[in-house]
Amino acid sequence: MRIDKGINVIRVSAPGKLMLFGEHSVVYNRPCIVTAVDHRMSVSMEKRGDDKIIIVAKDVGMDRYETCTSDLNKEHPKEVRFVLKALKNFFKEHSKKTGLNIETKSDFSSLFGFGSSSAVTVCTIKALDEIFSTGLSKKEIFELCYKTVLDVQGVGSGFDVAAATYGGTLYFVRGGKVIEPLNVKELPLVVGYTGIKADTSTIVRAVREEMKKNEKKINNIFDEITKIVERAKQSLLTYDLDELGKLMNKNHDLLRKLGVSTKELENLTRAARSAGALGAKLSGAGGGDCMIALGNGKVGKSIEKAGGKLIPVKSNVKGVMVEG
Ligand code: PMV
Repeated sequence: MRIDKGINVIRVSAPGKLMLFGEHSVVYNRPCIVTAVDHRMSVSMEKRGDDKIIIVAKDVGMDRYETCTSDLNKEHPKEVRFVLKALKNFFKEHSKKTGLNIETKSDFSSLFGFGSSSAVTVCTIKALDEIFSTGLSKKEIFELCYKTVLDVQGVGSGFDVAAATYGGTLYFVRGGKVIEPLNVKELPLVVGYTGIKADTSTIVRAVREEMKKNEKKINNIFDEITKIVERAKQSLLTYDLDELGKLMNKNHDLLRKLGVSTKELENLTRAARSAGALGAKLSGAGGGDCMIALGNGKVGKSIEKAGGKLIPVKSNVKGVMVEG
C-alpha cells in the first residue's frame, strides 16, 4: 500500500528532559530552565485503509491495543491515552481522519521522570504532521501537544513538551509564553535515580494546597527561585560552572523548604556534594525520580554508593525529528 508522498511508515523521535532550575515556580508563571536529554521516545506511524487504530507499546506493557477513529472520545487505558488524545486533537484541529498503525518505543524507563508522556505526544503530533503534510511550526506542535497533555493530566507548565519539541536548553515560561533557546554548551551532568517513581500531578496539587494555606511563604520561596533562574541563565550563557553549581545547591535548599524533597533525594545530593560536585539538586517535581549534579566520575560513584542508580545522560540534544 502506498500512502501520501509514497511514504509507508513515518518514524519520529523526541527527547526526554531534565529540569535544571525553576521546577514548581514555573507552574505559577515564573521562568524555568530545562534541557533535552539523549534518551528518546520514538513513534512509527502508518496510514491504514480502514478506520482502525492499532497501537503497539511494548515498553509500557501494551502488546496490542485496538480502537477506531470514531471511538477516540471514549476512555482508554493509561498506556495509550496520550497517543489517542493527540490523534483526537489533531484530527479535530485539522479536519482529518484515518485509521493508523502506531508503534511506540522508548530508550528509557518511564519511571525516571524524563517526560515520556510529553515526548510520545510530541512524536505522535509530528508523525501526523508528516503523514498529512500539514507543515506545522514548532510553536504549533507545542500548542497542540500542550493542550493534549493538559487534557490527559490536568496540570503542568508544558516545559517537558517544549523540551521534546524544541530540544536544546530552554528558558521557559508556563504555557509557552516564553520559549527561549539558550546557546549553551553541554554540561557535565551526573544523574542519579532514587529508585522511587514520583507522581508529579499529586505533588503539584499538594503544592497548590500549600499555596492556598500559606500564600506569602510559598510566594517568597518562588521569588527566590526566580532570582536563581535568572542568574543561572547568565551563568549557563557564560559557562560559569562554579556559579551554576552554587545556584543548584540554593535551588535545592528552596525546594526542600517547599517540602518536595525526600530522604533519598537528600542522601544522593549530599553524597554528590561530599564527592566534590560543584552543585546538586533534585530535578522535577520531587518526591522521588532523579537528582542531578555537576561533576565527574567520582561524584557518580559516590551517588551509587549512597544507593542511587546512575543514568548516563547527554544534555542539550536535538528536539523532535523525523528519523525516516
Ligand atoms: O516531575 P517532572 O520531571 O515531570 O517535573 C515537574 C515539574 C513541575 O514544575 C513541578 C511541574 C511542571 O509541569 O512544570
